[in-house]
Amino acid sequence: MIDIKALEKISSHSPAYANMLDALCRIAPPGAIVECGVYRGGSAAVIISACEGHNKIYLCDSFEGFPDHTPDDIYPANIKVEKGSCKITIDGVKSNLQNLGLNLKNVNFVPGFFEDSMPAFAEVVGPIALLHFDADFYNSAKTIFQYLLPKLVKGAFVVIHDYYSFLGVKKAVDETFDSKKLTPIGQEGVYYEYNI
Ligand SMILES: C[S@@+](CC[C@H](N)C(=O)[O-])C[C@H]1O[C@@H](n2cnc3c(N)ncnc32)[C@H](O)[C@@H]1O
Repeated sequence: MIDIKALEKISSHSPAYANMLDALCRIAPPGAIVECGVYRGGSAAVIISACEGHNKIYLCDSFEGFPDHTPDDIYPANIKVEKGSCKITIDGVKSNLQNLGLNLKNVNFVPGFFEDSMPAFAEVVGPIALLHFDADFYNSAKTIFQYLLPKLVKGAFVVIHDYYSFLGVKKAVDETFDSKKLTPIGQEGVYYEYNI
């Protein structure tokens, strides 16, 4: 497991969330690991260190920050996500990850707004073993679920951040998954094991 203390500069996730993501990556079946919502690379660092070169990893983000929100994205009063915020270049993310001593040989960057990038990405990604969604918005979640859930292998995990804090994410998840099959990760997120 990557040093949680070292992650603090680039991640806002709790140690409990990072530990769970690490554990699920380690027990995921063979297949690709896909993260949607990368920003500075905090959770990507957890994923890369857990996979230790065994899986192909895909990091998907606009790398231009957030798109516009929609009426489905009703924020908690104390959180505001502006269009274009969380902007960072791919080189900036690479440098954050390399500064943590991580090897990026199996890491592929997938730039673009999901609405534009996912149709082609879904054609080439192959079977997915773990999907980490951390992109805060309803439309972003719906797009990812539409294109990538059909690619999950049996036993794959879908890990979703912000289920409890972004109402648009909760709405998209509740429209897609049986809520009885979601396992909470503290009050920060949920995961789903695909066993059909
Ligand atoms: C909360 S940040 C990700 C945080 C990151 N996982 C971490 O560990 O700190 C959300 C990211 O999702 C991206 N994002 C949100 N909606 C998107 C969309 N429709 N297409 C591409 N990127 C999107 C934003 O650019 C932003 O970098």
